[in-house]
Amino acid sequence: MNLAGKKILTAYFSWSGNTKVVAEKIHAKVGGDIFRIEPVAPYPSDYNETAYGVAKEQKEKGIHPPIKNADITSYDVIFVGTPAWWHTMAPPVMTFLAQNNFEAKTIVPFVTHGGGGAYSIEKEMAKLAKGAKVLSAFVVFGRGNSNIDGDISAWLNGLK
Ligand SMILES: Cc1cc2nc3c(=O)[nH]c(=O)nc-3n(C[C@H](O)[C@H](O)[C@H](O)COP(=O)(O)O)c2cc1C
Repeated sequence: MNLAGKKILTAYFSWSGNTKVVAEKIHAKVGGDIFRIEPVAPYPSDYNETAYGVAKEQKEKGIHPPIKNADITSYDVIFVGTPAWWHTMAPPVMTFLAQNNFEAKTIVPFVTHGGGGAYSIEKEMAKLAKGAKVLSAFVVFGRGNSNIDGDISAWLNGLK
């Protein structure tokens, strides 16, 4: 993808660090700014409390939890990273996509997962981020293996 002259943001949510690692690698390659999406009410640090408590309830009730927002107006291309949570993106990423104006912007998704893949996250991002063009996601198990840097470069080169 030709990013020349584009204003770029990498925005990601990460609970246990995998998506943060991948976000930082993408940011190092594409430049621009980086922003960590954080819910106003942090998730518990305990896995079961987060997974089977808060996150499951948010998923079941379709809750978009309030986040500390970023001003995305000046960006043309926004890389949006999320862990797979209950077969979709993490709820704070839903908030980020739904409450900002993505008209005429390009979203480039990236997803880290625990074995389930990216599910329909690309399509769901397109639904939430009204007006955005959503490109093909980079999808990786955990934080990837020793090929991760090459895999990211190959994905970036193949984006249209
Ligand atoms: C609440 C919660 C739900 C999850 N649901 C899924 C899932 O549906 N499918 C999957 O493959 N992995 C699932 N995982 C595993 C994460 O997607 C995976 O560990 C991811 O890389 C974590 O990213 P992070 O370290 O940036 O938070 C879940 C993890 C959590 C905490």
